[in-house]
Amino acid sequence: MKHLLKLLDLTPEEITEILNLADQLKYELKNGIPHKHLEGKTLGMIFQKSSTRTRVSFETGMYQLGGHPLFLSSKDLQIGRGEPVQDTARVLSRYLSGIMIRTFEQKEVDDLAKYGSIPIINGLTDFAHPCQVLADLMTIREFKNKLDGLKFCFIGDGNNMANSLTVGCLKMGMSVSLACPEGYYPPSEILDFAKTYGDKFELVNDPVRAAENADVIYTDVWASMGQEGEAEKRKIAFMAAAKPDAMVQHCLPAHREEEITEKVFEAHANEIFEEAENRLHAQKAVMVLLMK
Ligand code: CP
Ligand code: NVA
Repeated sequence: MKHLLKLLDLTPEEITEILNLADQLKYELKNGIPHKHLEGKTLGMIFQKSSTRTRVSFETGMYQLGGHPLFLSSKDLQIGRGEPVQDTARVLSRYLSGIMIRTFEQKEVDDLAKYGSIPIINGLTDFAHPCQVLADLMTIREFKNKLDGLKFCFIGDGNNMANSLTVGCLKMGMSVSLACPEGYYPPSEILDFAKTYGDKFELVNDPVRAAENADVIYTDVWASMGQEGEAEKRKIAFMAAAKPDAMVQHCLPAHREEEITEKVFEAHANEIFEEAENRLHAQKAVMVLLMK
């Protein structure tokens, strides 16, 4: 593994290696066992969109690993004034040990990897959110003690979360039911991948049907960053016919009484905030594997 651009690039073994190391780093942090694997290393963090979790967990994670994080707002960088990504990649590769980037187009992240010579980590694009899904898989495995054989249900539009969850869950042996409103399906690259898993994948419009017997129910905002005007069109039902002990996961930020009710959110807050915490551990594992 040279970069973390999207989960489509990773094998199940590589995902398992990240999850195992994440569990270990979580244990070491909780027990005061030093794990300064990245002493002397620097991570540049480029943000073209807002963030709470991604920014703070990467920055803190890098510090805990003994390295140095640099927050780079696109408002201040020359990239925000049009300097080509090819040049930015080649310049930053001469200063930094790795780059985490949150931006709009997946191509920008892919180009950083193509033109630069240091590891690139995707901190969210319109297409994918691999860091979030690694934390999600870690959390599900923590609560359910396994991944293989579980039924995963995503209710929402076919956005970056739906894309990465579909790929990550299928690769880890789960079956995936997506309930997406008509017209908001994942892109063909994801659907073509999912179809290779036969009846372990289904895409339906009815959230109740998708949630039938689910072990995990996942939802995300109706309108992703940059698409807020679409929210009204995306009203969906929630928490329908899942298993009684089904987990609820949400990448956050959540909009209560839109994609999730206050009642469901608070009933599952423990799982949801553990999921948020696990961003830290999963990303530390990614940074160690890429930058050590
Ligand atoms: N889930 C997530 O990526 O949160 P932020 O947008 O706060 O980073
Ligand atoms: N789909 C959401 C995820 C936020 C973590 C967005 O892109 O805004």
